[in-house]
Amino acid sequence: MKILITAGPTREPLDPVRYLTNRSSGKMGYALAHAAAHDGHQVLLISGPTDLDVPDGVDFIPVETAAEMFEAVQDSLSRMDAAIFAAAVADYRPATAAEQKIKKSGETLTLELVRNPDILGSCRSHFGFTGTLVGFAAETEHLAAHARTKLEKKGCDLVVANDVSQPGIGFDSDRNAVLLVFPDRIESLPEDDKHQLAHRIIQEIEKIPRD
Ligand code: CTP
Ligand code: CA
Repeated sequence: MKILITAGPTREPLDPVRYLTNRSSGKMGYALAHAAAHDGHQVLLISGPTDLDVPDGVDFIPVETAAEMFEAVQDSLSRMDAAIFAAAVADYRPATAAEQKIKKSGETLTLELVRNPDILGSCRSHFGFTGTLVGFAAETEHLAAHARTKLEKKGCDLVVANDVSQPGIGFDSDRNAVLLVFPDRIESLPEDDKHQLAHRIIQEIEKIPRD
């Protein structure tokens, strides 16, 4: 298969020296890219800034903002058989990015933020993508219920749900535990190394029937 994977955080500039971002090491997305390439798939990794090395044999488009990630996905999605959205995309960006460094003044500062496009949420409705669609859901409560809502709303074949309130796994960690939420069933993958989990997730994606 040709598989597109988004990974890492996005950076939304406030001024030349500051940005808003999400907590994300990119490890899960890069592990998925590595596992998919290892299984013989042709992988395109579209990633925000991380400290990680691009896995061997993986095509790579580096991006910074959600808008750049949206464009890179839009440009390549029609060539893909499957797309996995592991990126932690900033839901909002500053309404304006100042050209010069913002100087401090006063005791409080109010930022105006505007919504970023939902990249995964645009795949079915906007881009007309008919391939296998896999999302992630980072939640602090009601994991399965919130993941199911995202699965249905975004037209996914699978949502990989992460409980980000559990200490020691998830963010920055080499380990994770996830729920695989399919339209008709839920499977739990207990805590494991992100590379092992990535292999299991790719195997599950390979099993999803394609038309
Ligand atoms: N996602 C995306 N573009 C966005 C926001 C999210 O592609 N602008 C993708 C993520 O990569 C992930 C999925 O949508 O695969 C769910 O992301 P999440 O932040 O958990 O959900 P949201 O839909 O943004 O809802 P909320 O943050 O309000 O829970
Ligand atoms: Ca979000």
